[in-house]
Amino acid sequence: MLSQTTSQTTKIIIGANSDIAKALALQVVEEEQSQLIVITRDISFYQQAVFEKCQIIAVDDYQERTISLVVKDIESNNQTAISAVFLCHGLLHNAHITPEKRLQEFSEQAFLEVMKANAMTPILWLKHLTPLLKSKVDCKVIIFTARVGSISDNEIGGWYSYRTSKAAANMLIKSAAIEFKRSAKNIKLISFHPGTTDTPLSKPFQKNVPAHKLFTSEFVASQLLQIVNKTAVDGEASFLDWQGKSIPW
Ligand SMILES: NC(=O)c1ccc[n+]([C@@H]2O[C@H](COP(=O)([O-])OP(=O)(O)OC[C@H]3O[C@@H](n4cnc5c(N)ncnc54)[C@H](OP(=O)(O)O)[C@@H]3O)[C@@H](O)[C@H]2O)c1
Repeated sequence: MLSQTTSQTTKIIIGANSDIAKALALQVVEEEQSQLIVITRDISFYQQAVFEKCQIIAVDDYQERTISLVVKDIESNNQTAISAVFLCHGLLHNAHITPEKRLQEFSEQAFLEVMKANAMTPILWLKHLTPLLKSKVDCKVIIFTARVGSISDNEIGGWYSYRTSKAAANMLIKSAAIEFKRSAKNIKLISFHPGTTDTPLSKPFQKNVPAHKLFTSEFVASQLLQIVNKTAVDGEASFLDWQGKSIPW
């Protein structure tokens, strides 16, 4: 039974080795009322003293079996209501994937890998976490997507796999929100576009980004925490940018 007598709540950051996630974690540990759980494949950043009171969960992969085991572990050990989950997964490029400029660059293998990381992995976490998130306490689930996942905003094309994976994530979020309106009324789903942020994900594509439009992870994390506090649980999914402004789906 979750403790409702204390104002302490738990926040979970998943894919916590993302640069934005790390900045988020550093800000959440400063919140007196929050307990922090981080989940990542690389826990080295979380070996610092500042995280000594956090639960740090290392995973080998993001297969559904792994996700299910981690959620069972949280269920057994966590005593407080969960007020926020940040799903920070994102794959744009790696050693063998480059975002496509032209349709002729589209690749079956790259598409599947990008879809899995950006759309399937976050929804698997949501599936397994939902029973733990249902409570009398408001719970915001933030799924990192991107403005390029907006179908109506797509005016320049390209980046076929990444765009599609983020649009797919948005459709999964929309559908889950419809279900939650009936069955998990305390959960608010937010699809979040951080803006171009100086991280390994955007590094190769920063050349033409004006300095004032390239954000630090610290700035984006602080914006996001304010947005999460301000956004009401209203039975709808929201697609929001770093300013808290709505983006057309
Ligand atoms: N940076 C930008 O300019 C920008 C712009 C728009 C949207 N976004 C979105 O914001 C989010 C965070 O981005 P970031 O810039 O902080 O990224 P980052 O520093 O490159 O971090 C990558 C993140 O993706 C996870 N990841 C990488 N490969 C994966 C895979 N194959 N399967 C599952 N998870 C995988 C990592 O998990 P581990 O912790 O396990 O390593 C980590 O959470 C992403 O969704 C990204 O698409 C970023």
